[in-house]
Amino acid sequence: MAQQYRITLLPGDGIGPEIIAVSVDVLKVVGKKFDIDFEFQEALIGGAAIDATGEPLPAATLDTCRNSDAVLLAAIGGYKWDTLPSHLRPEAGLLGLRAGLGLFANLRPAKILPQLIDASSLKPEVVEGVDIMVVRELTGGIYFGKPKGIFETETGEKRGVNTMAYTESEIDRIGKVAFETARKRRGKLCSVDKANVLEVSQLWRDRITKLAAEYPDVELTHMYVDNAAMQLLRAPKQFDTIVTGNLFGDILSDAAAMLTGSIGMLPSASLGASGAGVFEPVHGSAPDIAGQDKANPLAQVLSAAMMLRYSLNQPAAADFIEQGVLQVLESGVRTGDIISPGMKLLGCQAMGKALIQVLEQ
Ligand code: IPM
Ligand code: MG
Repeated sequence: MAQQYRITLLPGDGIGPEIIAVSVDVLKVVGKKFDIDFEFQEALIGGAAIDATGEPLPAATLDTCRNSDAVLLAAIGGYKWDTLPSHLRPEAGLLGLRAGLGLFANLRPAKILPQLIDASSLKPEVVEGVDIMVVRELTGGIYFGKPKGIFETETGEKRGVNTMAYTESEIDRIGKVAFETARKRRGKLCSVDKANVLEVSQLWRDRITKLAAEYPDVELTHMYVDNAAMQLLRAPKQFDTIVTGNLFGDILSDAAAMLTGSIGMLPSASLGASGAGVFEPVHGSAPDIAGQDKANPLAQVLSAAMMLRYSLNQPAAADFIEQGVLQVLESGVRTGDIISPGMKLLGCQAMGKALIQVLEQ
């Protein structure tokens, strides 16, 4: 009998619906090949949810996600909602989803595909062979620390406040994920912090250092975040696995993504201790090209592959998709974000069709 999975689809905003549609088509092909039966349910998040219900994360959406085996999310946000107060913005929906599902570990791989080496803004010899995994803490740090808000001082001046805080247990659980991840890769872990200035980082460094004793096979180094940003651009091949807090991880994962030529190629996995994981591209909703059939659907498709690997335990199906993506690029087709001379330009739907043709061969 076919293995059955309930997948919640969260298309969100901007290019979201276009790239989710391609991923669903791809998953259907994969389902046939690997005897997997996907039951898809769509739910609202972000601006689309604000427009329909007034809130960025309706309770029904969180329920649907909790009752599924995994969640495939596209992207949220757009100009239209940019002036709303922060708790009503699309971004609050995404943060609420991460917190509501307890997704404390965010895995963001940045791997150079040889086919795309010319799409990188860095020299080929600098980026060739880059294969980095950023493990970003996702439900703590300055994104969630209290106090937060815009308050009035005694003199009547406004003062914006956020708090960067980590408890020992929050550091330990993300640290363990990072050491385990490094162990399955090349055995090198670089912990990124700002321990020369921030107390929260001093505690972070202490705990990560203590954990290292349990992973003698992993080589641990520490780096300040400003230096890490520089080293990522200067000599990215020195990195294997990076572990860092929520804000530093947000910034460094965009930088790492760009090494590969386009943020349009990179998937991510957000995982908790148990329950449904959320799989989403690292890129955003790209409102400037929404609805124009110009988006690159491959990061979303590769997110579906991560879903098969990390939440559904279907590594062969994940490999199949990843190989298909390499092959379709090999055939010389490109979306606008990764186009280079001599390649054929395709829109979002056509790229999806080209991929499916490869997968069905
Ligand atoms: C990301 C995004 C989000 C974040 C935004 C949209 C809230 O930039 O997933 O990296 O800051 O975490
Ligand atoms: Mg980001």
